[in-house]
Amino acid sequence: MVVLVDFGSQTAHLIARRLRDMGVVVEIVPPEKAMTNTPKGIIFSGGPASVYSPGAPTVDKKIFDMGIPILAICYGMQLTAHLLHGDVKPGKIKEFGPATFLINGKTRLFDSLSPRSRVWMSHGDSVVAPPPGFSFVAQTESIRAAAMTNEVKKIYCVQFHPEVEHTEHGNIILKNFLAICGIKTQTKHIDTKEMIQNIKKTVRNSYAIAAVSGGLDSTVAATLVEKAIGKRLIHIHIESGLMREGTTKKVMTFFTNAVILHKEKEFLAALKGITDPEHKRKIIGKLYVDFFEEEVKRFKKVKFLVQGTIYSDVIESKGTKHAATIKSHHNVGGLPEKMKLQLIEPLRYLYTDQVRLLAKDLKIPESFIKEQPHPGPGFAIRIIGEVTKERLEKVRAADNIVVEEMKKSLLYETLLHSFAVATGIRSTAVRGDGRGYGEVIAIRAVVSRDRMTATWAELPYDLLQKMASRIVNEVPNVSRVVYDITTKPPGTIEWE
Ligand code: XMP
Repeated sequence: MVVLVDFGSQTAHLIARRLRDMGVVVEIVPPEKAMTNTPKGIIFSGGPASVYSPGAPTVDKKIFDMGIPILAICYGMQLTAHLLHGDVKPGKIKEFGPATFLINGKTRLFDSLSPRSRVWMSHGDSVVAPPPGFSFVAQTESIRAAAMTNEVKKIYCVQFHPEVEHTEHGNIILKNFLAICGIKTQTKHIDTKEMIQNIKKTVRNSYAIAAVSGGLDSTVAATLVEKAIGKRLIHIHIESGLMREGTTKKVMTFFTNAVILHKEKEFLAALKGITDPEHKRKIIGKLYVDFFEEEVKRFKKVKFLVQGTIYSDVIESKGTKHAATIKSHHNVGGLPEKMKLQLIEPLRYLYTDQVRLLAKDLKIPESFIKEQPHPGPGFAIRIIGEVTKERLEKVRAADNIVVEEMKKSLLYETLLHSFAVATGIRSTAVRGDGRGYGEVIAIRAVVSRDRMTATWAELPYDLLQKMASRIVNEVPNVSRVVYDITTKPPGTIEWE
C-alpha cells in the first residue's frame, strides 16, 4: 500500500488514480495523519500554500526517518527542503505550464528516461539549496532544482508533476518509484458490473431521478443507474437555454421517456445583471436543483438524484481540506446545502478518459462519445459579464461556426474542446468604409485527456482564418476574433 499525503493539491486524486491504474492500493490522508500507517511508500502531493505562509500544512519530521521511500511532489518537495534545513525561496520566475527538463545527476527515479523531456510545472516558490544529504539531479531553463534526491534515505523530490498527462514519461517516474518501494505493478480496468451492483445496493427498492444534460457524463451516469434499477429511474432534462443548439433533441432521442422542462426564461431572468462568475455558477446550480425538487414532488417515491459529476468537477470546487476553490462546478459547489434528495454520483472518482471507456463498455453510441463536452452552466460561463439574450445568440452563433469548421477539418474529435467565448471587450472595426464597434470573440481549442492539464491546439492558420472570417462576417456585432494560447495551468479551460 502507498500512503498519499494530500497538501491540498488539485492533482492529489490524479496521483492516486495513476497508481490505482497500475494495480496499487492507495490511501489518501491529510498531513496530520501522514504517519498512522506503515506503507511500502509515501507520496507527498503538491498544494497551493507556500511553506512560509501562516498555517501552511506540514508533517512530523520523523516521517523522514521511518525508512520508507518518499516521493515528494511540488509543494511536497519544498516542504521536505524546508523541514530538513535546505533553502526555499519565493521564485523570481514562477513556472506554470510546460518546461524543458534536463537530467544532470544520477538517480534510480529517472531510470530509462531520456536526458531531456517536457514536464509540467505549477509553482511560485522553489528550492535554492538542497538539505544536507540531498543533491539536485535535474534542472529546467529557469530553475536549478527541478528534482533533488537523497539516494541513501530513498527520498525523491520533484518540482514538476509526474502525474499529469502532459508530463512526458510521468508514468515511468511513478513506476520507478514503485519499483524502489518494492511494489509490483499490473494494469487495472474499471469494473462496470461492480459499479452497477453497487448502485443496486444503494437504491434498493426506491426510485431515482436523473439529471440528464445531453452530455456524456450524465448520459453514462444515467445509463449505469438504468441498468441497475430499470424503470425506477426517471430522466429529467432541464432546457436552460444555455446549451448548444440541438441538445434537447439529442436527449429526447436517447432517453425517449425523458421529462423535458422548458426553463429558458427563468434562467435568463435569474442571471440578469449578474457579472461575477462564481455568483453565476451558484445561481445556475441552485436553479437546477430547485426545478428538480419541484418536479420530484410529482414522484412521491423518489429518494435519489443521479448526477454525472466527475472528479475534475469535484476537485476544482474545493474537493479536499487544503485545496483551493478554482471554480464552483454547477453540480458540486453550486448545490444548496439542504438538498432533500440523496445524491448518486457513480462517476465522482473518474476522469473524462475513463468515462469514455465506460461509455464504450455500456454501448453508448459513438456520436455521443465523440461529442465534445459542454459545461453544465453552458454558455453562461463563456459570456464574460452579463448574460443577455442577444449575447447568448451571439456566442451560440460563433460557437456553431467553430464546431462546424472543426468538424470539416476533421480535427474536432482530436480535441477535448473547441468553442467560442464572448469576451465582453469591445473593439473598433472597419466595414466597407464605415466604423464598427463590436464585441471581441475568442476561440479556445484545447488538447487534454483528463481535463486537469491542457495545451492549446496548434490549429492550422487557414482554419483559424476561416473561422475568424466567418465569425466577423456572419455574426452580428462582432468586431474581432482572437485565439487563446494559454495552457492549463495557469489558464483554466473555460474563461470563467
Ligand atoms: P476548467 O475551466 O476548470 O474546466 O479548466 C475543466 C473541465 O470542466 C468543465 N467545466 C464544467 N463542467 N460543470 C460542468 O459540468 C461546471 O460547472 C463546469 N465548469 C467547467 C470544462 O468545460 C472543462 O471540460
